[in-house]
Amino acid sequence: MIRTIFLALGAILAAIFTLLPSSHVFARPSEYQLTNDVKQLNKRFINQTILDACKSLQPSKNVHYILSPQYSSTLLRYIASTTQTPVCLFLPDQPQQIADAINVIGAKRIPFAVSSGRHASNKGFSTTTGIQIDMKGFQGIVLDSSKQFVDVGSGNIWDNVYQVLEGTGVNIVGGRVTGVGVGGFITGGGGYSWKTNQYGLTVDTLIKADMVLPNGTLVTASANENPDLFWAIKGGGNQFGIIYNFRLKTNPQTAQVYGGLRTYTQDQIPAIIQAVSEFSDKNTDAKAQTIPTFNTLAGIPGISLLGFYDGPDPGTSLDYFNAPATTAKAFTNGWKAQSFSDLVRSAPANATAYQRGLFHSVQLKHYSLPMLQQIANQSAFWGSRPFRSGTFISYDVEPFLADWANGINTDAAWPHGNSPIPLNIYYAWSNPLDDQFYREAALESARVLNDLANSEGQQVDQFGLYPNYAIDGSTAEQVFRQNAPRLAQLKKQFDPQNVMGLTTYFSFT
Ligand SMILES: Cc1cc2nc3c(=O)[nH]c(=O)nc-3n(C[C@H](O)[C@H](O)[C@H](O)COP(=O)(O)OP(=O)(O)OC[C@H]3O[C@@H](n4cnc5c(N)ncnc54)[C@H](O)[C@@H]3O)c2cc1C
Ligand SMILES: *[C@@H]1O[C@H](CO)[C@@H](O)[C@H](O)[C@H]1NC(C)=O
Ligand SMILES: *[C@@H]1O[C@H](CO)[C@@H](O)[C@H](O)[C@H]1NC(C)=O
Ligand SMILES: *[C@@H]1O[C@H](CO)[C@@H](O)[C@H](O)[C@H]1NC(C)=O
Ligand SMILES: *[C@@H]1O[C@H](CO)[C@@H](O)[C@H](O)[C@H]1NC(C)=O
Repeated sequence: MIRTIFLALGAILAAIFTLLPSSHVFARPSEYQLTNDVKQLNKRFINQTILDACKSLQPSKNVHYILSPQYSSTLLRYIASTTQTPVCLFLPDQPQQIADAINVIGAKRIPFAVSSGRHASNKGFSTTTGIQIDMKGFQGIVLDSSKQFVDVGSGNIWDNVYQVLEGTGVNIVGGRVTGVGVGGFITGGGGYSWKTNQYGLTVDTLIKADMVLPNGTLVTASANENPDLFWAIKGGGNQFGIIYNFRLKTNPQTAQVYGGLRTYTQDQIPAIIQAVSEFSDKNTDAKAQTIPTFNTLAGIPGISLLGFYDGPDPGTSLDYFNAPATTAKAFTNGWKAQSFSDLVRSAPANATAYQRGLFHSVQLKHYSLPMLQQIANQSAFWGSRPFRSGTFISYDVEPFLADWANGINTDAAWPHGNSPIPLNIYYAWSNPLDDQFYREAALESARVLNDLANSEGQQVDQFGLYPNYAIDGSTAEQVFRQNAPRLAQLKKQFDPQNVMGLTTYFSFT
């Protein structure tokens, strides 16, 4: 009886989730969460040194304290368990204000964090109990009159960029789903895009970055100016300074592209595994891409399948997912010709936001059939642990072309010349007492998948874990591989006082 009720509840949740992809299924816990955080801060002793530093930030109208709406809105994090309550929030809107702030922070050794889209999955990477610098004051998007490049303020989310570029005939290589920030996407590894098969990661299209160094100097980093710094910020994270503008190379864009979201119920999983495997093995069209997510939502396994084709007509490139090639029947089918911007915003990313959560990753050479079967098993297994509070236990399969980086200049802090193909593990749950359980589960699950890949001869240690997906505690060696020593050396060179060590990231040493 109880089991039936739970199954029915799961089915209803699944239906709401799939039918209203952009709604907040899990009653947006932000109000509760924020009230709790504020209570926590009120109870906390407020450190006078940090408070004094906050008061010296200029202009003072850009400094916000607890209970201000600005302050509260930046507490809201995609992964709620990364939230921390800063003593103050600073919202610079001029580069010199960032420089002045970093000088205060460095001189007084104040813990701080920098945030753009606030989608980081590791606590402390963009949150702090000290001074929070949020880049929402840098939201310029300027397409050059030549249409060769776009200047993008780091505080944008990709949605804004696509919207501005719509109808111009050009686009950039950016995020695949709604809500993701520009600043972290680029610095945190480089950026896997719908366009990656064609143009590489976003960092491979970066022309220059305008930034503030840890000692407060304003500089530009490009292939010609400060080339070492340019290399380091291409995937090396938040340890080299604060970037306020990225100049990105454009690529041609048709008025409409094809794709969107399809969902499948549990009974269709074997057929979809087969279809994904064939797409992964046989697709040669760089414009075609998919993200099948094997997820267990409130205990019920299912699949959401994002599809993409860089043009209005996919031809036969996505036929692996259609009859007669497969018997799989979609529960909902939103694949159609639409604008790039609409396609990105049709992804159901926000439906699972604002819960406790984590990301982790496995980096592969290839998705084999046994690998896909094991991924589905992992999702079902960890999604159905009795007495645990998991709400969304998911594995994003990202079957890029096997040699996607061929012919692309991939010289960057995060090594990707060998075409690493990522798997993103995303778990969400509700009970803080389960934090440790799910952390260990993600590590164990990644171990199982890595072992399987190695047994298939994939030699996964040739790849660094994608920084934007890797769980905190991953070592520099695991994330940056052969580039770790050069990053450590450049960090010492550009930040001898270790000012950026006052914020959190993977450790290079
Ligand atoms: C729903 C969702 C979808 C995603 N989709 C993709 C995807 O398609 N492809 C992909 O590659 N990744 C994807 N990611 C991962 C994403 O790239 C990372 O979460 C990324 O760090 C988010 O950047 P942000 O600016 O939103 O995050 P923040 O939390 O604001 O920042 C993340 C990190 O970047 C640093 N940082 C931010 N801004 C700056 C700056 N201006 N200067 C210096 N350092 C800065 C922060 O200090 C922090 O360490 C996704 C994540 C989520 C949650
Ligand atoms: C207050 O913060 C400063 C700067 O981080 C730190 O050095 C100091 O120890 C803190 N003081 C107390 C009492 O916690
Ligand atoms: C998703 O949430 C973000 C906030 O993180 C918001 O900016 C964006 O507009 C939302 N997307 C959709 C499609 O509602
Ligand atoms: C499914 O995963 C669990 C946990 O890793 C494992 O114990 C089990 O053997 C797996 N099942 C199959 C069929 O691989
Ligand atoms: C700041 O750091 C840069 C890079 O290391 C260096 O060239 C510059 O001289 C430093 N400026 C000051 C004022 O220390």
